[in-house]
Amino acid sequence: MAPSGDETWFDDARGKRVAAALIAWYDRHHRELPWRIPPRDLAAGLRADPYRVWLSEIMLQQTTVEAVKPYFLKFVERWPTVSDLAHADSDDIMKAWAGLGYYSRARNLKACAEVIETTCGGGFPDTEAGLLSLPGIGPYTAAAIAAIAFDRPAAVVDGNVERVFTRLAAIATPLTKAKSAIKDLVALSVPTDRPGDFAQATMDLGATICTPRRPKCLMCPVNDECLALRQGDPEHYPVKAAKAEKPLRRGAAFVAIHDGAIFLRKREAKGLLGGMAEVPSTGWNSRTDGELVPTAAPFAANWENSGSISHVFTHFALELTVFRAEIAEMPAENGGWWARLEDIHTEALPTVMKKAIEAAIPGSTKARRQGKSR
Ligand code: ADE
Repeated sequence: MAPSGDETWFDDARGKRVAAALIAWYDRHHRELPWRIPPRDLAAGLRADPYRVWLSEIMLQQTTVEAVKPYFLKFVERWPTVSDLAHADSDDIMKAWAGLGYYSRARNLKACAEVIETTCGGGFPDTEAGLLSLPGIGPYTAAAIAAIAFDRPAAVVDGNVERVFTRLAAIATPLTKAKSAIKDLVALSVPTDRPGDFAQATMDLGATICTPRRPKCLMCPVNDECLALRQGDPEHYPVKAAKAEKPLRRGAAFVAIHDGAIFLRKREAKGLLGGMAEVPSTGWNSRTDGELVPTAAPFAANWENSGSISHVFTHFALELTVFRAEIAEMPAENGGWWARLEDIHTEALPTVMKKAIEAAIPGSTKARRQGKSR
């Protein structure tokens, strides 16, 4: 049972009422999304394509629905099936992903498509357990694909769903410790009929009505069932634990410019931002001495200090001192390539590197929109 102010509040009967009300609301108010089969088409016999569901769910772990739409459309136009993606060039996938962030997800996309092609006979497994065995598919994604593409009664819990259910049951435990209790409540509520629509209805409610701030409780189809609303302060939920401060690392980045192009390298395949493009940089550690001066540059040049940039990764914050230099002569091959500034948006550059380039050459990377990123 959920650790709520009233442990008897959210029982099986309430869960079923919530599901019925959410699905009726979804029938009228669902969002039209490019990867979604709306209720009217499902009723007419159309099925969701597991490939499109999978691709959208992986992308939606990164950023907002609005930011994902153009990326999703670009991917499915270029690689319409999972088999097309399995045969795609890894660098092309990384470039198409650039701007979405957290690039290990892009690497896993191809790895997953290859496993489906070679060991699953070209089709996605249709159970949560089968889906979980694939690269890059964790419990959330497995449940989402199982429910949305295969009508399995899986408990799908993302951030929106967590907010809806912590409010419905007034779960006062900090979110990090309440995960399994929330999943239990969602599992209690999942209907055997239309579990995929139930999952998407809950997500849509969280995105449009049960929002983090100023939820529109008057318009909510389950406001009668919401204990947080009865208590008078739905915004209080979900309760967040205090955040630990992240350690600070420092380094230097070097933007070499020659005839309208900058020098880029490819990062090691493994590790943080693996396989992405970068301007040469020192190691990132907590030292503030020698590594941050121009002598740490990959080649000698008239390096000028362009200031510093900050970026916050999952486990540390980074401060990079940025140096720039106009290079008259191309240096000998340094294991990288020269990218023209007008084509810079086609490079698989992580946000931290865009910030460094922007500090050295203001305005050079601003043309394109970016997603959340690491
Ligand atoms: N967020 C994550 N998955 C989603 C989906 N299938 N529909 C709407 N929002 C989502």
